[in-house]
Amino acid sequence: MTQKPNPLSSIPVSGPIPAHLARSVIEETLRSAILDGRLPCGTALRQQDLADLFGVSRMPVREALRQLEAQSLLHVITHKGAIVAPLVEGDAAETYALRILLESEALRLSIPLLDADDFAKAARCIDTLETETDYAEIGTLNRQFHMALYGKAPNRRLLNLVENGLIEEERFLRFNLESMGLGKISQDDHRQLLRMAEERDIEQCVKALENHLNRGVEVITRYLNGLDPLGKKAPQ
Ligand code: NI
Repeated sequence: MTQKPNPLSSIPVSGPIPAHLARSVIEETLRSAILDGRLPCGTALRQQDLADLFGVSRMPVREALRQLEAQSLLHVITHKGAIVAPLVEGDAAETYALRILLESEALRLSIPLLDADDFAKAARCIDTLETETDYAEIGTLNRQFHMALYGKAPNRRLLNLVENGLIEEERFLRFNLESMGLGKISQDDHRQLLRMAEERDIEQCVKALENHLNRGVEVITRYLNGLDPLGKKAPQ
């Protein structure tokens, strides 16, 4: 009988972690393992196993799991641990509809306050996306591009919600791009968004963002229905 490989064995832990960094190290390590698929959907994560793995008490483990739950990456089970969440939670169209509301508002509030550094940061993300082929990196750069444009919105809670939505998408993008063989995400959209933000054209920029995210809804819906982005049935 072969033993089922322990998914935690794919997680590297280098040396003892200083107590004050424990929560963030655990959170970041688990986050990247979930995003790149080393910890697949449905994987059970026991608090004690994680505490042993990282050589810490259960408290920072519990805190890290809560953070990841807020990002929809896992579901916490009280006193036990957590389970890695499904790729898309609930109704994808509803999730995107809510994201469009939140991101439009963040963009609207942020545009008047953006400065040259923010524009340069967004432009760098676009440039790097041109040549990036690693799916996990593409997802991260997409998130960083969007956050560069929203980041000046003077509402921390709104920005947290927006960023959690983008993290959820980051995870989906990775699987989506890979399984579809889609090499790129819409760079034309990103360039247009940046130009309109630089021109402080709030209404047009928000409209362009809505279109950009609506295209995301179409792709995700096709993916969940087992179709490829061109509308043909995907090979099983
Ligand atoms: Ni985008």
